[in-house]
Amino acid sequence: MSAVIGCSPEEAVAQLKQGNPVALPTETVYGLVAPLLDEDTILKVYTFKQRPLNNPLIVHVLDERQLNQVAYAGTQATKLVNVFWPGPLTLILPKKPSVPPIVTAQQSSVAVRAPNSSLFRNVLALLGSPLVAPSANKFQQVSPTCAQHVMDGMGDTLSYILDGGPCSLGIESTILSLLDEQHPTLLRYGPISKESIEDVLKQSVHMPPADTNDHATKLCPGLFKKHYSPHTSLYLVDKLQGFKPPQHLEQQFNQQSAHVFFTRSNRILTGKEFYLTKNEDLAEAAANLFALLQHLDQCHFKSIWIEKVPHRGIGCAINDRLNRAAHERFL
Ligand code: TXA
Ligand code: MG
Repeated sequence: MSAVIGCSPEEAVAQLKQGNPVALPTETVYGLVAPLLDEDTILKVYTFKQRPLNNPLIVHVLDERQLNQVAYAGTQATKLVNVFWPGPLTLILPKKPSVPPIVTAQQSSVAVRAPNSSLFRNVLALLGSPLVAPSANKFQQVSPTCAQHVMDGMGDTLSYILDGGPCSLGIESTILSLLDEQHPTLLRYGPISKESIEDVLKQSVHMPPADTNDHATKLCPGLFKKHYSPHTSLYLVDKLQGFKPPQHLEQQFNQQSAHVFFTRSNRILTGKEFYLTKNEDLAEAAANLFALLQHLDQCHFKSIWIEKVPHRGIGCAINDRLNRAAHERFL
């Protein structure tokens, strides 16, 4: 099969009703969706992605009414929903019995978010019920931020990709666990910062201990250390300007390699130099990150050397993804 790229929410709904997962745009990345109660189509989502069944999916809802169908939302959840939804914030909450176990990998919690993309919301409204969706990439690969990336990565298994153009944010949602309302815990950095969540909750947000990947994986099974990887080896460095690689990597660094700077500034670029943002704009860097990695993968470089970005706001999410994608780090 080869997927069709189109612009019709009605066609997406028709495909879903026939039991075919479809790819839909969100403001973060493209998702591979199936209806919440259709376990056969949900199983296809896991299979197409080659994703283990112990890694649960996010339920995507239209509004608070649909949230209340799938999860028990307390006062802290309601405060966040009022400020950040629809938008790139996923909440982990106690699940209601109506959610099939295949969605939550048998756990008693469920991940929920309301995406802020008009096409996605159109499909939700036409269907009248929530959709489950992981990012529309194969397991552990770079998330897709435009319809063509989905086509390149999974076009052979899908029937329909709804094209909403490039995703405006380009990095997956922030994930916050509210299973213990006294101890909100940030499980994945994303476009909504820890500080802005704390401002709304008037409470500090915990982080899972950074050095215990096992612990983080238990809390959020998708947070494997190796993740988001391009096929080309990626090296993460503190600053590219003046960087001296260790001797055994000198050739790797100098030959057939791509160098990715955070910002262009007034640099004159050679053919192997790239940048994430013209002028130190972290939002622009986030929106470009996955697209640039996909592009560099297709340019047949032997390695990609990328520098970390300022560690604030969405920059924390960019550094987090780079850390997971990196083959080696020089920080
Ligand atoms: O921006 C996004 O969140 C995108 C778009 C498509 O909405 N979705 C996305 O889904 O990034 P995915 O499946 O690639 O990542 C979801 C993460 C996984 O790491 C998964 O383990 C975690 O959420 N997750 C899902 N349900 C969970 C739960 N009940 N408890 C803890 N973690 C959960
Ligand atoms: Mg993903």
